[in-house]
Amino acid sequence: MSNNVVTKAGGAIVRLSQSLRVQLLCWVLLTLFGAIAFNLYDSFWSADVTAKLVTDRTLLASARVIAEAVRVDEGGNVQVDVPPAALEMFDTGFGDRVFYKVITAWGNLVSGFPDLPLPAVQRAGEDRAFHGADVRILMLDHPVVGLPNDGTISVTVAVTHNSQYAMRRQLWLSDFSKQFVLVFLASLVTILGLQRGLAPALRLRDAVRRRGRNRLDPLPPEMVQSELRPLVHALNDHMERVQNQMAAQRRFVSNAAHQLRTPLALISTQASVASREDDAARRDEALAALRTSTRQISRLASQLLTLSRAEPGSRRPRSDATDLSKAAREILETYAEEALKRNIDLGLEADRSVVVEGDGTMLREMLVNLIDNAIRYSKADGRVTVAVGQENGHAVVTVWDNGPGIPEGEREQVFERFYRIMGTESEGSGLGLAIVREVVDGAGGSVSLGAAEGGGLVVTVRLPL
Ligand SMILES: Nc1ncnc2c1ncn2[C@@H]1O[C@H](COP(=O)(O)OP(=O)(O)O)[C@@H](O)[C@H]1O
Ligand SMILES: [Mg+2]
Repeated sequence: MSNNVVTKAGGAIVRLSQSLRVQLLCWVLLTLFGAIAFNLYDSFWSADVTAKLVTDRTLLASARVIAEAVRVDEGGNVQVDVPPAALEMFDTGFGDRVFYKVITAWGNLVSGFPDLPLPAVQRAGEDRAFHGADVRILMLDHPVVGLPNDGTISVTVAVTHNSQYAMRRQLWLSDFSKQFVLVFLASLVTILGLQRGLAPALRLRDAVRRRGRNRLDPLPPEMVQSELRPLVHALNDHMERVQNQMAAQRRFVSNAAHQLRTPLALISTQASVASREDDAARRDEALAALRTSTRQISRLASQLLTLSRAEPGSRRPRSDATDLSKAAREILETYAEEALKRNIDLGLEADRSVVVEGDGTMLREMLVNLIDNAIRYSKADGRVTVAVGQENGHAVVTVWDNGPGIPEGEREQVFERFYRIMGTESEGSGLGLAIVREVVDGAGGSVSLGAAEGGGLVVTVRLPL
């Protein structure tokens, strides 16, 4: 249970740390806090300087008041009657202790603490220790009328630090609260700015989310800032590709349905003819036709299936080691009977095994379709030769026949789905070469058609070893 809570909290933190808004906000706050830390450090020291200055002024004022009270009597004795105001100016409610000392220029103590230390220079405050307390101390030389040779006395006043520190704290705190308000306002403005800045991106997200399944028209790039427009363009390009793909798919399905419909209609007619026929010979004839149509349609169905399997992404990528020589021999053997019937000379030139990595089933389908075409479109008494070899790191399969060949202008089109050359009599679906192309592309190879010597077609397939 508690574990669950921890995982949930962890998930929320991961989600937040991936949020653009949170990331930007963090950077802004980091900068702000850095600036404020520096400012606070700086303002502490300026508060310190100010508080010292104020204390020194008070010390000077106090020393002056004391100095003004110094008198020389008729006997030439220096005397002072320290006015209470001189010491009361330090009574700011922080319980500070005040010390003073008045001495003559020749070092005689007139009044005060004899052991109060003397600062190095007059009129400048210094920090010293006195009677176990830290004090701010200041000394003032002052001329006194009546002393011989215009003599002076020196007044030293010291005060503990309480009031000074309190003032420093107060100055600093007022700065601190100002900074705090500043950060708060800056964060608020940043959040508002982020909200406004990210709004177009969020609108784009919603626009994409709200779209129906079939809506693939482009999104207007102006709906987002210039930085995000490439993303919208990429999205639009992608949707266009999907749209084209979908259109191709639709064409394919409707073509396939057309192709299936014709033999199915034929089958239906042939079946009803056969069932109505009383004459045994005629009925057998109709049934034979029915079988042919059935074979045709089942071949079409299996070609469709093979094609859909050969398409990229429809099967898990496999890498069997397939010996093309062996596969070609086995396929030729299955065609031996038919070749014999039409007196076609089948030949295989493959003296050693040529092994390629790839989807073995699909590579066989490719060979079947090439060999099937060569035999199917050969004249009677023709010749079909299959050669398997190796060349520059490629496996090369060549299939020759001495049939009618394919005119140069149609050598690209015959690879299209359902494309058949006008006037082709032999039955077929027009999917064979499309399957060959898909398989070869999937294996990273190439296929080309050419004219064989003395007429006929030569198909060359190259596959990386
Ligand atoms: N070896 C060949 N000789 C002559 N024409 C061929 C050969 N192979 C294919 N063709 C032509 O290319 C067309 C497409 O071939 P294919 O895609 O295998 O479909 P199908 O064989 O089912 O008609 C065939 O209809 C045929 O006209
Ligand atoms: Mg074919």
